[in-house]
Order: sequence, then C-alpha cells, then structure tokens
Amino acid sequence: MESLLIKGGVPLCGEVTISGAKNAVLPIMAAALLTREPCVIRRVPNLSDVKFMGRILTWLGAEVHFQGDSVRIQARKIKGAGDYDLVRKMRGSICIMGPLLGRLKKAAVSLPGGCVIGARPINLHLKGFAALGAKVTIENGYVRAEARRLIGADLFLGGRAGSTVLGTANVMMAATLAEGVTVIESAACEPEVVDLACFLNAMGAKITGAGSPTLTITGVKQLHGAEHEVIPDRIEAATYAIAAAATNGEITLRGARADHLHAVFDKLRDTGVKLERQGSAITVRRNGRLKPVDITTLPYSGFPTDVQAQMMALMALTPGISIITERIFESRFMHVSELGRLGADIEIEGPSAIVKGGKPLSGAPVMASDLRASAALVIAGLAASGHTQVNRVYHLDRGYENMDAKLRKLGARVQRIEE
Ligand code: EPU
Repeated sequence: MESLLIKGGVPLCGEVTISGAKNAVLPIMAAALLTREPCVIRRVPNLSDVKFMGRILTWLGAEVHFQGDSVRIQARKIKGAGDYDLVRKMRGSICIMGPLLGRLKKAAVSLPGGCVIGARPINLHLKGFAALGAKVTIENGYVRAEARRLIGADLFLGGRAGSTVLGTANVMMAATLAEGVTVIESAACEPEVVDLACFLNAMGAKITGAGSPTLTITGVKQLHGAEHEVIPDRIEAATYAIAAAATNGEITLRGARADHLHAVFDKLRDTGVKLERQGSAITVRRNGRLKPVDITTLPYSGFPTDVQAQMMALMALTPGISIITERIFESRFMHVSELGRLGADIEIEGPSAIVKGGKPLSGAPVMASDLRASAALVIAGLAASGHTQVNRVYHLDRGYENMDAKLRKLGARVQRIEE
C-alpha cells in the first residue's frame, strides 16, 4: 500500500493548475448512457474514481476510451443492471441509475451502504423515481426501478440535511426522457448539478432553472451525442488555497472558478487570508496573523462539507478557538483523531468540533480514512515540523489528480513510498 511521506515546514509557493471536477465528471459520464450516439467529455481528471466509473460503463456495454484528458463514451447497446461488486465499491456510481431508468425504463444496482462519513441513504433518489411512475423495490441487495412509461411530475426532493446532489442528478437524468414536464423543488444548486444540466442540454434535453432550487425538465423523445468540458474542481482549488494559508506560502490557482468558491473564500478572508484575482488566476497568501473562524457546512452556496476537514487543519494551526459544525454528514469527523496525533487539540461535541488552535503541530504517522480527511492530513503534515507519513494514500488518488506531483511543484518535500 502506498503512503505519502511529507517533510513539513516548507511554505508552498508557485502556481497550480486546477483539474476538472470529480463530482461533475462522474454523473456526466453516467449521462452518456442516455444516448446511443458518442459523447466526448474534456478536462477529465485522471482519478481512480473516474477510471472506476469507466469500468462500470464498460461493464454495462458502453465503449469507453480515455485519451489524454478526454473520454469518449458510446453506449450503443446497454444492459439495465450494474455489476453488484463494481457499483458497491464506489458510492458515486449510484448515478448510473437515473440514466438507465430514463433510457431503458429499468435499472438495477447494488444498494450502496453507508461509508465512513455517514449513513448515506438513497431514499430521495428513489422517491424521485417513484414520482416519475417507476416501481421501486429492494431485493437481494439490489435496488430496482422499473416503469412501463416515465411520466413527468412535480416533486419535492429536500431531505433532513437539505437538498441531495446525486439525487437531483439522478432524477433530472431520468426525467429528460420522461413524457411531459418534471418540476423538482428543493433541487441541489451545486455547480456540479449545473454542469450536468449543461451537458444534458447539449445532448438535446430541455432543462431550465439549474443552479436554483427549482429545476424544470421537459421530457424529450431521445437525446443525441454531445461534447462537453467539465468545470474546474472547486474542492481541489479550496484545498490548495488552504494549503497556501497553512504553510504561510503564496499559491496562484490557475483555472479555478472564483464564482464557485464564494463561501470558502469568504471564510478564508475572515481568517486573514488575502485573495487576489488577475484574470482567471487567483493568488492566495496570508494577510498577517490568522484568526479563528466558526464554520457550518451547508448545501451550496453555503460552506461545502467537502472542505470541512481541510479547514479544520487550518484552524488547528490558528491561535484561538473555532467551532466547526458539520450539517451534511453526521460522522464526517474521522480526521479529528488523526489530526490529534500531530498535536491538534480538537474536541467533538455533537455535530460540532471545537478546535483550540495554535498549538505547534509535529509530524507523525497518520491514517487516511476518506478522501477529504486525507487532504486535511496532508495540509497539516505540510505545516507541521518533522516528518508525517499519510498512509492509505489511495483515498487521495480517488479525488486529487497528481496531488504529490502538484505539491512538489509548489516546493513541498513529499514522496510517495510503498509500504
Ligand atoms: N440524503 C438523504 N437521502 C438521500 C440522499 C441524501 O437523506 O436519498 C442526505 C445525505 O445523507 C446527506 C445529505 O442528504 O446528509 C446530502 O447528501 P447528497 O446526496 O447531497 O450527497 P451525494 O450526492 O451522495 C455528493 C458528493 C459528495 C459530497 C456531497 C455533498 C459526488 C460523487 N459526491 O454526494 O462528495 O460530499 O454531494 O456535497 O458527487 C467527496 O467528494 O469527498 C464527496 C463525499
């Protein structure tokens, strides 16, 4: 198993180019199942999750060819059931269900379980499919949705934590080929949902309201092939911005979309970080001493849960007390105990973490538990004195393209080692 060995204490300086967004490309690749014509997707990040989605689509019968940072997908003839083990291994693969139901009027996938960040139910996805007229059953570990016809409907897709990103994506994709008009209320407003809607519209779908809580989808008879360039990864951009602040360096983010990062940049400014825009480049550096800030994660345009762990690493380095409240995933605090190994003083109280920041961090061996927790440990390790070994680096490879190489280019002393 591979690990990252980090020698901390080096301010990160230079430029980093932001890759395409993992959470946009996964549903966009799945959307290519909605047509028998070829689709070409560009700015595809080289990530294990993306390769995995490619394998699932191939298993379903699609031809999938990666070339450079593009992927060409042609789903001439497909089957309606995902391979049990393949789908179960990556939670994001649930988003094949909407396209399969839309195109074939039937879909079966293994029921995704919970994961280290929380329970992760799919009741809202299924509620949406049922509203379109599908019969939904759960049997032998599979969830099946089947319909003779899909009929557009008005539905409310809000849950206990607000909107659902992949639930919205799934129902939107199924509804593109339903008869009549579907209106999704409390739809997710995340830029990844907007990007998917843009791709679907390029395929001939009729979707309006993407980016707002009300999505209107007028069903069409069929979709055609399309080309699309994926949006830059706002979570990757936020991670490097935080790494600049944590190491007291200066990083220029190339290709990031500042308009997708308002909540993160606002908190970074409050904590004493300077952000300067020159064209499409954003330069990040500290603006004097860091100050603690309180953060609550929320659906977009609130502070993203996917940046909570990285921000906690920064707050652990910031003198004073900050309270970080997680409102999206109930147990997304696996990084707390590992940050503790580096010397961070953090206590969990219900959905909040109380960070008593400013204690010096020193390197230690730590275990990555999930993708964003790993990123937080890397940031903390970069800022800590001495050596930090982040084990189970495959979590990082799921969602950060060439992270160790990008960090080295910024001056970090990071090596990938085989255990
Ligand atoms: N929820 C329900 N019922 C459902 C679906 C969701 O109650 O049917 C709840 C969840 O339990 C959670 C909340 O709704 O409390 C929001 O979950 P959501 O459905 O929005 O999450 P997701 O679509 O499964 C995507 C990203 C996650 C990201 C979340 C929130 C992908 C592949 N995954 O997951 O990304 O944290 O949205 O923004 O797009 C990551 O990249 O590290 C990651 C975990």
